[in-house]
Amino acid sequence: MRSFTVAAAFAALAVANPLPQEIDWAAVDALAPIPTVTIPVVDVAAKASTVAYEPSAAATSVAAEVKASGVDTDATSGLKVRAAAVTCKPQPLGAGPTVSPDTPEAFLAYGDFATAANSASTPEGYYNSFTNLNASSSAYGYMGYTLLNEYSTQTCASKCDAIEGCAAFNIYFERDPTLNPNDASCANPPSTTNIKCVFWGGPVSTSNAKNFGQYRKDFHVVIAGSNGYTSNKIVTPPGYTDPIYLGNAAINAPFDCNGKDTYLGVRIFQKGPFDISKCAAACTAQADYARAHPPSNGAAIKTCQYYNTYMLLKNGEAVGQYCALYDHSWPSKYATNFGQYRGSDQYTIEWSYISSNATDAAAACQPK
Ligand SMILES: *[C@@H]1O[C@H](CO)[C@@H](O)[C@H](O)[C@H]1NC(C)=O
Ligand SMILES: *[C@@H]1O[C@H](CO)[C@@H](O)[C@H](O)[C@H]1NC(C)=O
Repeated sequence: MRSFTVAAAFAALAVANPLPQEIDWAAVDALAPIPTVTIPVVDVAAKASTVAYEPSAAATSVAAEVKASGVDTDATSGLKVRAAAVTCKPQPLGAGPTVSPDTPEAFLAYGDFATAANSASTPEGYYNSFTNLNASSSAYGYMGYTLLNEYSTQTCASKCDAIEGCAAFNIYFERDPTLNPNDASCANPPSTTNIKCVFWGGPVSTSNAKNFGQYRKDFHVVIAGSNGYTSNKIVTPPGYTDPIYLGNAAINAPFDCNGKDTYLGVRIFQKGPFDISKCAAACTAQADYARAHPPSNGAAIKTCQYYNTYMLLKNGEAVGQYCALYDHSWPSKYATNFGQYRGSDQYTIEWSYISSNATDAAAACQPK
């Protein structure tokens, strides 16, 4: 597939699927799994770390890749693991309250953590994805974290807003060791409570809040009062209409009133945060390519005028950003694919958006 031209790959995929918008298993199977991100427990070097993202550069590189090949198998870059620290090195104290007795059980049962989580307000521009869990998120597109002085969803949201590509955040209390427990002499030191604010490039949800902590030697790191918020604010890619949010449903377009298939094919992105502009760039690049390579039999040129992009999840974990391209636009009432089973694996859809070419939407003739 990799060496196919974009037109050939899209044509092959469109023909191969009798129901064009079913999840394209061939494209999914070609992907490498996304490595699990380990959020540093406490970064002794700095109080904050963020992963930079440049949307216009990402869109440019997507366009170049789409022009070069129709199928995408981006490998994700892992996080650098910090070098081993000095034995029993004192760790910075967190801003959260110290729990007594100093046990993981008491931490999980501590009423003030639940109260803070349950009474937190949902910041403007976000929706509440989950409240008061005892686990943190492993969502799509890790973008770093910061330690807060107080459990403030507003502060965490403003920090997310200031990061290019940040689309969701997770705020929680974490029971951390006061000494780095990397030696038998400090295997289970007293704890401190950090208030963490972690940034993600894709939606957070109960299904991807799966990090229940870990053991560091005998010290048990646990999480309490974990809330997740996902942004409903999105950027309109240049040359396209304001994206319409379809929630957890993908477009399942029928053949049009003339019996024509409007589906062109799919790209799946696995690098960087969820970014609607990447799919818009793929749509433009497909259209440019199609115009430059008209069918030799004189058939009409099929250019991308509309796309549906969403997060595809397998059993709650991100597979990648799915980007389905069409030569005509379909209204949101055709968003009827709420995911599919494949054997015992459940594939679901989140963060689904549609958008059309702003100057030529090419509305599909809907079948009667
Ligand atoms: C974490 O929360 C889940 C769901 O509320 C609960 O079943 C589980 O017992 C909790 N775990 C701990 C260690 O408290
Ligand atoms: C929108 O469609 C028109 C006509 O097909 C095309 O010339 C233009 O390049 C398209 N815009 C984008 C952003 O792809």
